[in-house]
Amino acid sequence: MIPLPKVELHLHLEGAAPPAFIRGLAQEKHMDLSGIFDDRGNYRFTDFWQFLKVYEAATGTLQRPEDYARLTTAVLEESAASGVVYSECFLSPDFCGNRDLSAWREYLHAIREAADAAERDLGITLRGIVTCIRHFGPDKARQSALCAAETAGDWITGFGIAGDEKVGRPADFAWSFDLAREAGLRITAHAGEWGGPDSVRAALADLRPERIGHGVRAIEDLALVDELAEKGVVLEVCPGSNIALGLYPTWRQHPIGQMYDRGVKVTISTDDPPFFHTTMAREYDRLAEAFDWDEGVFRTIAQTSLAAAFCDEATRARIAKTLEPA
Ligand code: ADE
Ligand code: ZN
Repeated sequence: MIPLPKVELHLHLEGAAPPAFIRGLAQEKHMDLSGIFDDRGNYRFTDFWQFLKVYEAATGTLQRPEDYARLTTAVLEESAASGVVYSECFLSPDFCGNRDLSAWREYLHAIREAADAAERDLGITLRGIVTCIRHFGPDKARQSALCAAETAGDWITGFGIAGDEKVGRPADFAWSFDLAREAGLRITAHAGEWGGPDSVRAALADLRPERIGHGVRAIEDLALVDELAEKGVVLEVCPGSNIALGLYPTWRQHPIGQMYDRGVKVTISTDDPPFFHTTMAREYDRLAEAFDWDEGVFRTIAQTSLAAAFCDEATRARIAKTLEPA
């Protein structure tokens, strides 16, 4: 493992649930989820759309705030073991309390308690980004944005959109993003994963994000790549996720190397690590191999990530100390 402190900006909390953890919850609740696992016990899917179905079925076992508290602890243990010192996770009121504000507050309270304990015990800091789900539609997104706006603060620091990029248009979600921005939340949006450069342009124009989740397909239009570099838009790149889902055949063919060389602010994350058989440690190892990146590159990327983190300045300064070479 490359022994460097790591900063992760793009992690779906439910998507970080190990399959054994979800199987355990399913057993406790007498739910038959055998269809979503293969005979080795891993999540079973062959493409992104099946992945979304398996993800949502697995998430169906997370029915109480305590389930999310246990999940948060398990996820942060894994991240800390990879050397992550600061992480931002996506959370959805769609899954936590069915977009009911008082239930959402209860889920959030449980997650924060677990995160605070992990910070004390493991030295890893977590912040939350509320995300709406594109294929659930703009009406549900509005309810999620209202939950986000009501709980914006020092822990819920951002608002975003995930889900099926092929469904709907970013403009359909502009109201939700405007509300979140007015509540002081920082903005990120998934784009340029299953949609091409036009999808990235639409997200930039209509949602005005500081960061783009993935954004890798901007590489199909070099003028857009240069625009991202010039404007300083940060890409939350998840190479192992892209490769596992078949966007690129090999690590060497992943565009992160070219984007970095062209001056785009790229960062490294895992997205949904157990689904894609990855960890932050593995992402670093594979990228070092594929692009011959040395410690200097990874230190630069960690600094870029921390600068783009949605935390307050006191937290950023505290984490910056942990990134300094010993
Ligand atoms: N939700 C969880 N993982 C996702 C991904 N890679 N793209 C879009 N939505 C997601
Ligand atoms: Zn994602």
